[in-house]
Amino acid sequence: MSAAVLSAQYRTAFVTGASTGLGLAFADMLLAGGVEVWGTARDPARLRPRDGFHAVALELSDGAVAERIFLDAERAAGGFDIVINNAGFGAFGAFAHTEFSVWEEQLRLMLVNTARLSHAALRGMLARRRGALVNISSIAGEFGMPYQAVYNTTKAGLSALNESLMYELQGTGVIVLDFRPGDYRTDFEGSVRRPVQDAALAADAVNTARMARVWATFVAMMRTGPAPAHAAATLQRALLRGRSGTVRSGRFFQAVLGPFLARFGSLALRRKVQEKYFGL
Ligand SMILES: NC(=O)c1ccc[n+]([C@@H]2O[C@H](COP(=O)([O-])OP(=O)(O)OC[C@H]3O[C@@H](n4cnc5c(N)ncnc54)[C@H](OP(=O)(O)O)[C@@H]3O)[C@@H](O)[C@H]2O)c1
Repeated sequence: MSAAVLSAQYRTAFVTGASTGLGLAFADMLLAGGVEVWGTARDPARLRPRDGFHAVALELSDGAVAERIFLDAERAAGGFDIVINNAGFGAFGAFAHTEFSVWEEQLRLMLVNTARLSHAALRGMLARRRGALVNISSIAGEFGMPYQAVYNTTKAGLSALNESLMYELQGTGVIVLDFRPGDYRTDFEGSVRRPVQDAALAADAVNTARMARVWATFVAMMRTGPAPAHAAATLQRALLRGRSGTVRSGRFFQAVLGPFLARFGSLALRRKVQEKYFGL
């Protein structure tokens, strides 16, 4: 498909977390396709200036402020044809041995406030009877990673939201894409938070060693993953199809084979495979 086809269907886009990683690749793909992009970062100095790109300062931890910033950008753009909720971060720690405030913040930012931006985006799109809402979920929503319990929860929740919206949006001219990347080579590994673990965990050598093995597996998968441009190409194809749906993207094992084989096994078997994979 030629890049020009994208601008025939979509004129404007809003992309959160466009400073680096997948968000940067999505913004570049849209710009190359002739779409005008409003891209966000907490510090707009991290957003590379280029033709057709508008830098927006957005911190997602305050939902009301984030929504106001989104609505201002929407007004300036005259409406968004594409909204990509991409901003997010990992937090690696044992659930019970980490302060709950860490998990609460991740839930608020990546689930509650992302749902809030989805809500705001859909109101504008439905009023204009056109648009594509893209929520960046993860393979982690269906194959949960140990020691990232709340990250998995936010992604599973986002996918559940997307699933409901696919029914609700039928016949409205608005589509929703539940985009589930596997491991990609981005700054995500570097931006994963490692919250302080309590003294009980520090004294538990077995659990500490298990965590170290899981972390090593996670890092190895991130470092050997495909480049973000691959995810952008997958998303471009889905946008051009113009239909709501679940879109998996990544290396063949994670995007195609794993989800296919998982249909035929029990949940218990799936857990056994995951345990082996993470060295538990
Ligand atoms: N990489 C992967 O393997 C992978 C796999 C599955 C799903 N995902 C998902 O894909 C999305 C992008 O991940 P990535 O790998 O590209 O990560 P990344 O390279 O770390 O980029 C994260 C982006 O989110 C923004 N961000 C982080 N915290 C924010 C906050 N509190 N408020 C506003 N913006 C914030 C960052 O902007 P600033 O720091 O510049 O403000 C940055 O642009 C995430 O939702 C992630 O969960 C990634």
